[in-house]
Parts: sequence; structure tokens; C-alpha cells
Amino acid sequence: MREVAIVGAAETRFGKSELSYRELAVEAARGALEDAGAEPGQVEALFLGSYSPGTFVHQEHVAPLIASELGLSHIPSTRVENACASGATAFVSGMMAIAAGLYDVVLVVGAEKMTSTPVAETTRILAEAADWENESKVGLTFPGAFALMARAYLHKYGYGREILDAVAIKNHANALANPYAQFHKAITAEDIAKSPMVADPLTLYDCSPISDGAAAILLVAADAARNFAKPAVRVLGFGQASDSLALFRRPDLTTLPAARQAAQRAYRMAGVSPRDISLAEVHDCFTIAEIIATEDLGFFEPGQGGEAARAGATSRDGQIPVNPSGGLKAKGHPVGATGVGQLVEAIFQLRGEAGGRQIDGAELALTHNVGGSGATCVVTILGRAA
Ligand code: COA
Repeated sequence: MREVAIVGAAETRFGKSELSYRELAVEAARGALEDAGAEPGQVEALFLGSYSPGTFVHQEHVAPLIASELGLSHIPSTRVENACASGATAFVSGMMAIAAGLYDVVLVVGAEKMTSTPVAETTRILAEAADWENESKVGLTFPGAFALMARAYLHKYGYGREILDAVAIKNHANALANPYAQFHKAITAEDIAKSPMVADPLTLYDCSPISDGAAAILLVAADAARNFAKPAVRVLGFGQASDSLALFRRPDLTTLPAARQAAQRAYRMAGVSPRDISLAEVHDCFTIAEIIATEDLGFFEPGQGGEAARAGATSRDGQIPVNPSGGLKAKGHPVGATGVGQLVEAIFQLRGEAGGRQIDGAELALTHNVGGSGATCVVTILGRAA
């Protein structure tokens, strides 16, 4: 396998946008090319992560659409769909193509526009990423699924909802320093207590929002990286794993086995352990998901993630900074773009370009992107240029 490096990264602001789906994707893609000092003509293949543009904005067949909008009409272009993990799965596809020696320069884009449909319809479209026949059809939405996980976790380990509050308050605070974030609003436990219940025990502030946005990355063969403008970030490892879409088939709702598998594969490939990671961008689609992720990734023992969140161990100056970007909770969650957006944040951090949210001395960054309630999980480990 050849080594793979990242020489360009960009994202749009996440949130409700006036831009169309294609305009968002093109803005991010052009940004990544510009960041790398690359010309569109250098791109040999495009991988586009997107969950459901056909239902959100009535446009399928989006990979050649974005390729042609970028003036890349005759390169191979492929859409990748793995629910909310579509972005990281597109990244893995691009990485594998370079590692296999097929291409030297690959553009990876993640994009979604979710705010054009009414919220009830958006909720139904999202629920199609769960097991429709067994669960979604009878009313189990994603807020409902993660509420079941939250109940199971709080009950099993004897916590109150203050551990969920800690995640929401931290991520809203982190997003204040992120110009790409949807929310720039600090919140308190009192705000959370007064906020509407969505799916007990999850309130408004436990949920990621509905968002528009896009993110893009330029991947190259590592030996060609010096031909580009920015210092190369190294792709050290990745792991991907799958699980049942249906929650009722899972023996334990307090862990995502696919995340554990993906993490183990990524750590093994990179030759590092959880202790070596400088920061992590994890898939906090709901506050409970961040706590479970910190355990699945091996940062804390089962049951200890809640206490770690409460004690500030995952804050920007804590033992392992988690979601310095604000996470899905406050940066936003345009589902197909999210995994690429997590990688973009990791790249900014490793290049020392994260401004007021910079983690000093960041050497290794981990991203954790989940599809559905854990049916797909992709973990990647990136390293600062040597
Ligand atoms: N967190 C914090 N604030 C939020 C928010 C969120 N998740 N969602 C909306 N808001 C804010 C809005 O900015 C708005 O604030 P304002 O009154 O100051 O302008 C207010 O809350 C009401 O917004 P609105 O858009 O009417 O909310 P809504 O009730 O239609 O939607 C949710 C709220 C929680 C139902 C929606 O965000 C949601 O479904 N989230 C989950 C998405 C999801 O399942 N993703 C897939 C995960 S696997």
C-alpha cells in the first residue's frame, strides 16, 4: 500500500444556508483546491459523500453533477452513501484508491442540504437510515433511538442527566471559537432545564441540529505531497465496521460494537494507542453518543465516560480534548458533510490553523463518524507532517 497524505482542506459554514446543494459542494471543493494550491485539472477522481439529496433537494446522481460544476467532466466520479457516515466513507474510498496506486490526486467532498424540507419530513428521511421495516415504520426516530441508549446508559451506571448537560455545555462553548459552526451561543444547565423535551431524556440541547453544509479534502500520494502549497497531513490509519441497523438486535445499548471494531483497526494500522491521541472529533449526534464514543474509542473504561465528561476531562484543556470544533451538537450536522468536516477540523488542528480553538502541540488527531445508530462506523487517525 502506498502512503496517503492530505494537502488541502476547506468547509462552508454549517447551518441554514441560502446556497443550493451544488453551490455548497462547489464552494467547499474549490476551497480545498485553493488551499492546496492545486488546479482542478490535477484531480484524477472525485468521491462525494451524500446521504439523501434526492429526497432533500430532488437531485440524485450528484457526483458527476459536482464534477462537471467544477470543470472535471471526464474524470471518474462516485457518490458514496452510508447514512451519517457517508463523508468518512467517501474519504476511505478515496484513500484506498490512492493507496492501491490507481490515482495520485483525489478530491473528496461531503455535502448535504437538509433545511429545505419541513422538520417532520427531515426526521422521516433520516429515519430511513435505520431499519424501516422493523423500527422506523412504527415510529422509532433517531432522537428516539438515542433516547433509549441514554436511558440504558444512565440506568446501568447510575448517572443523572448532568453528564449529558456537561457535553452540551462544552460543545456549545467550543463552537464559540469556530467560525464554521452553526451555533455561536453559550448555554447553561438552566437553559437546558428550560428547553423543550424532544425524546425523554433528550432535550433540544441534547440534539444535533438540522443543517446545510459541505466540506472537502484533497488527498494525494505521500511522495507527491511536496508539490503542493500546504504542509501535508499524514493519513496514518483507518478502520471501518458495520452492525445491525436495528437496535432490537443489539445486546447492549451502552456501546457501539462497530465503533470499537473500527477504532481497534485504526489504532493497529497507525501503530498507536488511545493515550497517544492529541484530540478527537467524535460523532455526538446526541450528547449521549459522545460519552459512549469516548469509551468505544478506548479513552475511558466502560461507565467512566460520563464521569470524565462531568469532570472536564474532554474539554479543550482536559486529558483528551473531544470535539474542539463544537462537534455535531454545536458546529452542526449536515449529515453527508459531517465526516469530511470532522477531518477538516483535524487537519486545521494538525496544521496549527484552528485559531481560538487550537489544541497546543497537536500531533495525532482521531475522527469517529457514525452512520445511523451505529450500523456504520469509520475511525481515522491523522498525523502532523513530519
Ligand atoms: N440545538 C440547539 N438549538 C437548536 C437546535 C439544536 N439541535 N435545533 C434548533 N435549535 C434552535 C434554533 O436555532 C431556534 O432558535 P431561535 O428560536 O433562537 O432562532 C430554536 O431552537 C427553534 O428551532 P427550530 O428549527 O424550530 O427547532 P425544531 O423544533 O424544528 O428542531 C430538533 C429541533 C431537535 C427537533 C431538530 O434539530 C432535530 O430533529 N435534530 C436531530 C437531527 C437528527 O436526528 N440528525 C441525525 C442524527 S443520527
